Amino acid sequence: THKIILDTDPGIDDAMAIFFAFQAKEIEVLGLTTVYGNVPADMAAQNGLALVELAGVDIPVCKGVTRPWVGAESTYAHFVHGEDGFGNIDHPPTTRTLDPRPSAQFIIDMARKYPGEVTIVAVGPLGNLALALRLEPALPSLIKAVNIMGGAAFVPGNVTPVAEANIWNDAYAAEIVFAADWEVNMFGLDVTYDVPFPPEFIASLETVNPVLGGFVAKSSKFYSDFYSQGKPQRVCFFHDAFPLAYMLQPDLFEMTSGHMRIGTDKLHQGQTSFAPKNSTISPHWLDTHMVNVATHVDHSALSSLFVSTYALK
Ligand code: BDR
Ligand code: CA
Repeated sequence: THKIILDTDPGIDDAMAIFFAFQAKEIEVLGLTTVYGNVPADMAAQNGLALVELAGVDIPVCKGVTRPWVGAESTYAHFVHGEDGFGNIDHPPTTRTLDPRPSAQFIIDMARKYPGEVTIVAVGPLGNLALALRLEPALPSLIKAVNIMGGAAFVPGNVTPVAEANIWNDAYAAEIVFAADWEVNMFGLDVTYDVPFPPEFIASLETVNPVLGGFVAKSSKFYSDFYSQGKPQRVCFFHDAFPLAYMLQPDLFEMTSGHMRIGTDKLHQGQTSFAPKNSTISPHWLDTHMVNVATHVDHSALSSLFVSTYALK
């Protein structure tokens, strides 16, 4: 089994991904480390607890950083995920309590406890990972890999023409995380926007798993309204589940390795500027750590994997 820490800002596609991880027999979720992003940090932490409670899973949930590495202002995506982060569904408050450790400390503790075994699956802004790297400089040697939902290597962004939300939200943190000496696998809009999920897909999650799939179906109404604006058919996107699917079935993805730089000036904030290896880019620019970027995914096999995993008892 793969030991993972799920670093998340729940969030509707975060919820879909968290349940997918809980359902997958090959994945052991050591804990949820939450972070501000789609919603403020306190709400992200409470939402993480609520999801763990709904799934009947007993794992630590930690609260993480409340704002970007640089600058005092956080921006949230209530217009995508609703005031509650779950599509305005009046989900009851959780009775569970948070682990006392900040998210960054939990990441460090697990890395030390299981050296070389833990994959961090990061599906929100990257501040917790950047902080953990600063607190424990040996972290890269203790972590197996970092699988990130974020970025847009060859396609436009979703917050600005060049930047995807998770990277844009905390560009300096992303720069630290991408530059660190660990295996980084990036699942950005290159693949996640390539797979529009129709209402039938969401309905089938609910059919095979009335509790968890039912929650996803309910919260996805608001989310699908957002994504369907101006489109002929209703669609929605489950970005955050992609790096987890890669752990179960890496062959579904085409990966390209190369050099990555993160934009931090105002105009390019959060841009994932990527040069595949052996490209004719200036050697000065190429002086960065190598990362792997997902460029293609098998749509129908991916959909089937989600449904069959939600169907597991
Ligand atoms: C990412 O941003 C968030 O709104 C989603 O949860 C996902 O992690 C997509 O750009
Ligand atoms: Ca997310």
